[in-house]
Amino acid sequence: MAELGHDVIGVDVDPGKVAKLSDGVTPFYEPGLEAVLRRNLDAGRLKFTTSYAEAAAHAEVHFLGVGTPQKKGEYAADLGYVHAVVDTLAPLLERPSVIVGKSTVPVGTAAALGERARALAPVDVEVAWNPEFLREGFAVKDTLRPDRLVLGVDRQRDASAWVEQQVRELYADLLHAEVPFLLTDLATAELVKVSANAFLATKISFINAVSEVCDATGADVTVLADALGYDERIGRRFLNAGLGFGGGCLPKDIRAFMARAGELGAGHAVAFLREVDNINMRRRSKVVDMAAQACGGSLLGANVAVLGAAFKPESDDVRDSPALNVAGMIQLNGAVVTVYDPKALENSRRIFPTLNYATSVVEACERADVVLVLTEWDEFTALRPVDLEPVVRAKRVIDGRNCLDRDVWRQAGWVYAGLGTS
Ligand code: UDX
Repeated sequence: MAELGHDVIGVDVDPGKVAKLSDGVTPFYEPGLEAVLRRNLDAGRLKFTTSYAEAAAHAEVHFLGVGTPQKKGEYAADLGYVHAVVDTLAPLLERPSVIVGKSTVPVGTAAALGERARALAPVDVEVAWNPEFLREGFAVKDTLRPDRLVLGVDRQRDASAWVEQQVRELYADLLHAEVPFLLTDLATAELVKVSANAFLATKISFINAVSEVCDATGADVTVLADALGYDERIGRRFLNAGLGFGGGCLPKDIRAFMARAGELGAGHAVAFLREVDNINMRRRSKVVDMAAQACGGSLLGANVAVLGAAFKPESDDVRDSPALNVAGMIQLNGAVVTVYDPKALENSRRIFPTLNYATSVVEACERADVVLVLTEWDEFTALRPVDLEPVVRAKRVIDGRNCLDRDVWRQAGWVYAGLGTS
């Protein structure tokens, strides 16, 4: 918003994050974000605070972008953070305001939040929903040039035209650049987001299911995906077979979708998502089995190098990371596991302190009985067999993301195994 020319205050309850951001330091790795942050701090358009009162005094448009993680022990989304924002902000509002939700929420949340906010606010307040579609690793570009803007408003309310006008003004530059703008009701806007993520998850699990069949027949899932991708109705993107999806969005969003559909009596409609989830989780155990097989049938006492801990490249995010999950399972099977990742080591150490961490690829691969590539960072796809040969104990590699050139590795005498690529 600051980059689009607006005067912005960012609120967070964590004083550590606020201090870092105020100093121009992003509290997580996201390519290009720090430059945007610094530029706008320097221009005086952006500041950070822990004070809701300051935010309420500053603005009439309040974006709500807090997390909606999976509840412990169930599929549903935890709306605790979303409610906390509305409950804290609404009583402090000083003039007619709109709260624009960006968080991924179960359908029906926005309407309920509108009532909640109005019960607490001393002034008129509206709630609209403007779902966020950015991908980690491409967040800056996706935010400044999104492929579409979706705005859900409460059409029952007289102020809905005012809300639309406020949001259109904020996004004027994007609208001028002809970014498609879809005006919807609240429920549709909420559902667009979960449906998009459910579709992406389904696409990945589809190709991973086909990959299992490829394994059973000796077919090659990568060539198959290329061939499918030429059909414009299908498209090649998100058809990369491998270790499957993880991260802070896709896994918990499909589960929250199932939970919410169940509450609405439409559980059967999205029952297939359970299978999407199953196919995805099966990838992780499959790679553990492949590692055991590579080590002669048992992982006990084996040295395993794991390259990659982030849930995808260009991110330091390890939430529900397939790579870290596999590393943990292999360790539980009795192997000594050493993990290296270009950006995610610190976060990995925090949630998985018992794994060994190396500060380079070569260090991770020292005396390895098998090397696993589990996140397709450029640093790993650029590896040549000779880079590892002086340090490994056995020339065996498992390509969990089908991102290496298997011919190169095989020609160098390595035992190479991919997923769905015999
Ligand atoms: C996702 C959505 O793409 C984004 O629109 C939404 O706003 C947030 O959730 P993100 O979590 O950043 O974004 O990751 P994404 O790029 O979608 O990848 C998710 C997972 O799928 C990763 O673990 C990735 O490795 C995996 N993946 C992706 C595959 O296994 N195969 C593919 O072909 C593509």
